[in-house]
Amino acid sequence: MKKINLPDIVCKVEKSGNRFNAWDTDGTKRTSEITTGARKKAYNGGYLLGRFTNKAGKFYWKKFEGEMSSQQDTSASSVEVPLDHAEVLDFIHNSYNLKPRGLMMNELKWKYLIRSAVRGKNIMMTGPAGCGKTMAAKSLVNSLDRPDFYFNLGATQDPRATLIGNTHFSSESGTYFSESVFVKAIQTPNAVILLDELSRAHPDAWNILMTVLDYGQRYLRMDEASEQDTIKVADGVTFVATANIGNEYTSTRVMDKALMDRFTIVEMDVLSENEEFDLLTYMFPNVDNDVLGSVSKIAAITRGEANNDTARIPFGVSTRTTVELAGLIFDGFNLMEASEVTIYPQYDNTGGVDSERTFVKQIVQKFCDDGSSDELFNEEEIETATEDK
Ligand SMILES: Nc1ncnc2c1ncn2[C@@H]1O[C@H](COP(=O)(O)OP(=O)(O)OP(=O)(O)O)[C@@H](O)[C@H]1O
Ligand SMILES: [Mg+2]
Repeated sequence: MKKINLPDIVCKVEKSGNRFNAWDTDGTKRTSEITTGARKKAYNGGYLLGRFTNKAGKFYWKKFEGEMSSQQDTSASSVEVPLDHAEVLDFIHNSYNLKPRGLMMNELKWKYLIRSAVRGKNIMMTGPAGCGKTMAAKSLVNSLDRPDFYFNLGATQDPRATLIGNTHFSSESGTYFSESVFVKAIQTPNAVILLDELSRAHPDAWNILMTVLDYGQRYLRMDEASEQDTIKVADGVTFVATANIGNEYTSTRVMDKALMDRFTIVEMDVLSENEEFDLLTYMFPNVDNDVLGSVSKIAAITRGEANNDTARIPFGVSTRTTVELAGLIFDGFNLMEASEVTIYPQYDNTGGVDSERTFVKQIVQKFCDDGSSDELFNEEEIETATEDK
């Protein structure tokens, strides 16, 4: 008999601002668990998404041909932001359960993040590359039941077009001005606006944002092309920005002090060896724990090295990299191979035996011939070793 695979969770996708949010039948937001592409397709195609489990026990989402049972009201979310002080306190201090399991962030930092958002602060997540800044910012946005907008400022070549708008020409109406999505976003009361990679943005973007972010001004200055001079930021709008600050990235422009002053800084901590291990074993329950332990150790050692006064490498292996590496191991690569394609290319190869890459290789290699590889022992040795026990 053919087994019918049914999803354990079913979601409906709704559009909020410029994002597509997925709500399950209990009214829990699942946006962060499903790729943007899948959510967008489901919304445009008007179908539901179901969470299925594959043979290896991993979850995946795909189109679900069925109906959502009617008694569930997806619009009612349990995380509406309260206004009364006692309720605000309660909300902040019970907010840890809104943090997705897959995001490693300590309780205090998460609560501080929620508190800053509830209090309408401009938030800036800082930390080195691949430590979870974007993930934390997106998780925060997902946890609050408010219209949300996402802008990646590191990827925009034309800040004026992204933040203000474009002048177009058509043969019928001549030149006309079309406002950016950002203009719409700031006029949406209670919107949460994510400004990702603000530190990589063009300085023009910083100048444009200066008045927008200033608590005393809160307006966007339009330019000649627009009919209006300024646009007021609506009540309750919260900005959440991310920045690689105080880290190895020299390509990141040093951010303007005046702009920084407009933010409440929430520093993302780099994970400890134990936290890294907890994250990896949670994400990859089917991968050998010893190997994941080695990956966590390699990350911790390189991070420690990079912080030394006499550092021989400019940065440690990031969590983004350990997650990628563990994914390769899950797919049957060994630690040596996975390191070769994920870790080594990030380190400078000049200087031969004295290069950064050689240094990192030596660290990794210690974990590759630690006895975990069968070939290192012949059968006799294994037998003797097991007999002794
Ligand atoms: N603290 C963390 N908890 C869980 N996963 C993490 C964490 N940090 C990094 N990751 C993993 O690394 C990936 C990259 O993280 P993210 O994009 O949030 O990094 P970032 O700090 O924004 O980096 P960048 O500075 O390059 O923008 C995530 O998708 C996740 O898999
Ligand atoms: Mg990021």
